Amino acid sequence: MDRRRFLKWGGFITASVATGAGLAGCGGSDNTVVVGDTGAPLVTGAWKFPQSVASGDPRADSILLWTRAVPAAADNVAVAPAGQDGAIRLLVTAGDNSAALGSNAVLAGAPVVDVHLPLLGQYDNTVRHKVTGLAPGVVYYYQFVAGDTRSNVGRFKTAPAATADVAQLQFVYMTCQDWSVNHWGAMTSIAAEQLDFIVHLGDYIYETVGDDFQLGAVESRHGALTLPDGVAKAGSSTAKYANTLADYRYLYKQYRTDPRLQALHERFAFIAVWDDHEFTDDSWQDAQTYDGSTNADGTDLHQSSRRRNANQAWFEFMPADVSFDAADSSFQNIRIYRDFQFGKLMQLVMTDQRLYRSDHIIPESSINPATGKPLGRIGSRYLVPQQTLAAVEAQKIAGATAAGQAPLAGVSILGNTQRQWWMDKMKAATSTWKLWGNEVSLLRMGMNGIDAIATLLALNAVPTVAAQVGTTAGATAGNVALAGAIVAAAIAGATAGTAQNGAVAIMTAALSGGAAQAQAGAGVAAGLTATQAGLAVAVYAAVTTAAAGGAAATAQAGAAAQTIAFGYIKQDVQANGAASSFVAASGKQEALAPFFARFLLNCDQWDGYNGERKALMAHLKSNNIGNVVALTGDIHAFFAGTVNDDFDAAGGGTPVMVDLVSAGISSDSFFSYLRDAASALGDIGTLVSYPLAIPVPGVGTVSLNFNLLDYTMGKAAPTLAQLLEQLRVQLRGALAAKGVAEGALEATVTAVMAGLQASSDFNTSLLALAQQLAALGNNGWIKHLNTDAQGYTLVTLTPGRLVAQFRQVNKLVGTSAPATLVARTTTATVTAGVAAVVVS
Ligand SMILES: [Fe+2]
Repeated sequence: MDRRRFLKWGGFITASVATGAGLAGCGGSDNTVVVGDTGAPLVTGAWKFPQSVASGDPRADSILLWTRAVPAAADNVAVAPAGQDGAIRLLVTAGDNSAALGSNAVLAGAPVVDVHLPLLGQYDNTVRHKVTGLAPGVVYYYQFVAGDTRSNVGRFKTAPAATADVAQLQFVYMTCQDWSVNHWGAMTSIAAEQLDFIVHLGDYIYETVGDDFQLGAVESRHGALTLPDGVAKAGSSTAKYANTLADYRYLYKQYRTDPRLQALHERFAFIAVWDDHEFTDDSWQDAQTYDGSTNADGTDLHQSSRRRNANQAWFEFMPADVSFDAADSSFQNIRIYRDFQFGKLMQLVMTDQRLYRSDHIIPESSINPATGKPLGRIGSRYLVPQQTLAAVEAQKIAGATAAGQAPLAGVSILGNTQRQWWMDKMKAATSTWKLWGNEVSLLRMGMNGIDAIATLLALNAVPTVAAQVGTTAGATAGNVALAGAIVAAAIAGATAGTAQNGAVAIMTAALSGGAAQAQAGAGVAAGLTATQAGLAVAVYAAVTTAAAGGAAATAQAGAAAQTIAFGYIKQDVQANGAASSFVAASGKQEALAPFFARFLLNCDQWDGYNGERKALMAHLKSNNIGNVVALTGDIHAFFAGTVNDDFDAAGGGTPVMVDLVSAGISSDSFFSYLRDAASALGDIGTLVSYPLAIPVPGVGTVSLNFNLLDYTMGKAAPTLAQLLEQLRVQLRGALAAKGVAEGALEATVTAVMAGLQASSDFNTSLLALAQQLAALGNNGWIKHLNTDAQGYTLVTLTPGRLVAQFRQVNKLVGTSAPATLVARTTTATVTAGVAAVVVS
């Protein structure tokens, strides 16, 4: 053991070496070493462990154990009473205590550790103790004793020896557990899994209370939070954010009073990093980025002492074997990036994507030339024009290079030091799999705004054009095919007379058995252009086919309109962009103007740091480093896809590794955030959601927003059955919110879905819309996406493959977690040797 290392943090982390118990080379004598023991006497009387116990950072020979003890009469979450400093006892054993797990029964078996640990009010009575000298791949049990009181028995499993062949590892990764919305039922489900450990990717706490996104329904067992100090958040009448050390400590203490979270910590060692909410939403370094809360010049507020408070609380409460130095006056006084070896099977590299990251490439404070005001988050973090981002990034890289700095210094998520560390770790890894605990997604999530607007305008045009065809049919003696051909030619720019003559010529050619080419030739001979004639021929054929299939006149007019809208209007908008006459004719020219570009949906993710992502992929590629899979959180949605060497290359580049993104435990979904943001954008909102009002007998009208975002972002075109299935979890939640009891939910869902299937709004309009959006073909590298979900991900890793099971949970029932927790499991499989993911 490196004695100096532990001494450096004095009372923060104590350490001991396990004894005997079959450990080769340790002998049988008591060679326990405790560094940092103050020699204080054991506390006496009745105590309690309001946040139970926890273990973390399992290695082949060590573990970090955690607890917090206060006198029995003290409040569970208030600051520990002063003047109670003393010592508590820790026991660790390899003896089987499975029957006692999670209870405060007496720990049985010969202890390999039996030490006294200082309990200090200075650290709010939290205790962190590192045990070294443990045996690899062994299940241990542990218990703390404070005065007369025993903690619950905890369990952890050490990692296999670095040289061991490991047949299988199984673990869960999880993220985004907002106390204040939805429910934590997913934790109950996780506790029942057979796991070696749990990876936590951050948003373990949320720093705000009462913020806009925290006002939805929540389980009643999660009472309202009240920060001891808290600062009012600008622009919100109800929200406060954590600021002081007491605030952040309060959040960890309160969150960990939940017995379901306690059960996870008692059962499994955690390997945790943070994301943004452990400090402040969408943070970088010590900068806060709340909308409407900036310096006078629009730049972000830097809150060094707040960041230090957040760092310290995380360190005090997370069972992580990391270095923290309170004497370091900078805000970078902690290092949480670190790696783990699990035999020859897995290297796990955990990164910190907040403490060293650069500001967004296009900062929120950038002045929008159109308004003269700072951009705010739209155009900086969300819906960022891709070309602008690329140009600004290139400028910053060139500037840094010219100034003799590292080229990526100002455009980085990892920072120079951590990036080099990541590259070194990846290159040196000899294990089969290299897993990367990565907070924000590496997947390109883009959208071609031009294609999207073209599709929307075409969709919007369908009813108008159909009506036009119907009116024209009045003048063609009810001949809808002819009427359609006339309208088609006119919309494509022919004068009324030419359209009429051309359509008649086409009809005549068709009736005399001429093929499409001959029909078009007749149309051109009558004065149409080739484009006008081609469209008119297609429309004539579509209507004739519909009529032959028995379609009524209105349906025939609809078929004509579909062909005109998607055979002409869409292409015209795609070709001419904002200059298309159909944009002007929509009357929405101004509103649509900013969207004629390629967009990146979320530039707080790796999409906003494209140069660094490319550098990391180039490193993996040039060194032939395969079997790299990122475990990702942050975005409150499930995704699976490949990370390519250069998403800007033709076809999106070549796959290098795989990114598997897990939805949050409880936080509101990415879809729900975007739905709220897009509702103000008029037609653009159709890219995200479609309103459905479903009358349900005995329940009333259930209003849903159908998730179209999945299709816009690249989900494959659905069948009617798939479209219905997409709705299931949301519908079940909405019915539960209307008071349907859980026992009746499944049957009600089935009945409502049958009704929907029969409604033309659903089986025709919505189905066509979803299929058209899927046809946009955005993000071909994303193989699975479910942007409206809560849940967690179970990984089973063997030498041959990595199998990730995305477990989506059901929504609240009344004011409780549902009894039926898991709604559906989607499986993503990565086979060793191939940078690809298959979803089933
Ligand atoms: Fe989150």
